[in-house]
Amino acid sequence: MPKHSNGFPLRLANLDDVDSILRVERTSYTHPWTAAILKDCIKPGYEVWIVHQPGDSSEIIGYGVISAAAGEAHLLNLCVSSGFRGLGVAAYLLSHLMSRGMLLNADTMFLEVRESNKSAISLYSKVGFNEIGIRRGYYPTHQGVESAIVMACELKLWIE
Ligand SMILES: CC(C)(COP(=O)(O)OP(=O)(O)OC[C@H]1O[C@@H](n2cnc3c(N)ncnc32)[C@H](O)[C@@H]1OP(=O)(O)O)[C@@H](O)C(=O)NCCC(=O)NCCS
Repeated sequence: MPKHSNGFPLRLANLDDVDSILRVERTSYTHPWTAAILKDCIKPGYEVWIVHQPGDSSEIIGYGVISAAAGEAHLLNLCVSSGFRGLGVAAYLLSHLMSRGMLLNADTMFLEVRESNKSAISLYSKVGFNEIGIRRGYYPTHQGVESAIVMACELKLWIE
């Protein structure tokens, strides 16, 4: 798994980044997060990390969101702008977020992913996440609902 981002720098997001993140979010998901949800993640207990263009920290290429508490980390969002996919950016962001989870004393990282999202499931499986359950009808779709696959990774095993 690549631990570099092809030269793209990483930084923590702040409230000034919300509009730029939402531009990527809205072109990436059928049911994107709202500004209120995103703002709610820029506070203690959460971390929003951004990969951006070298030399322009407001030009957002991808972002990932985690929460961590009581020995558990949750991956709440991971998204790469459509023009920058397939370059290893998500793999890089995810390995950074997993390292952050460890530093925040989490033993395990959990996530939910739409069962139709084969590229994300492939990414998570490659990194070491395993399916631990299904939440039926968890996500809305244009036709109705879709199940979530719940995945988990033991962070200590991942680092070894
Ligand atoms: C899923 C997503 C984050 C992947 O981002 P990315 O930067 O293109 O991914 P990477 O280049 O780091 O690829 C890492 C791995 O992901 C998987 N992957 C990425 N794109 C894929 C595709 N189109 N088809 C199949 N697998 C894919 C592969 O396992 C890949 O490893 P490989 O290159 O060795 O084959 C990106 O497609 C995205 O932002 N999608 C929309 C938002 C989303 O669905 N987020 C996940 C929410 S749970």
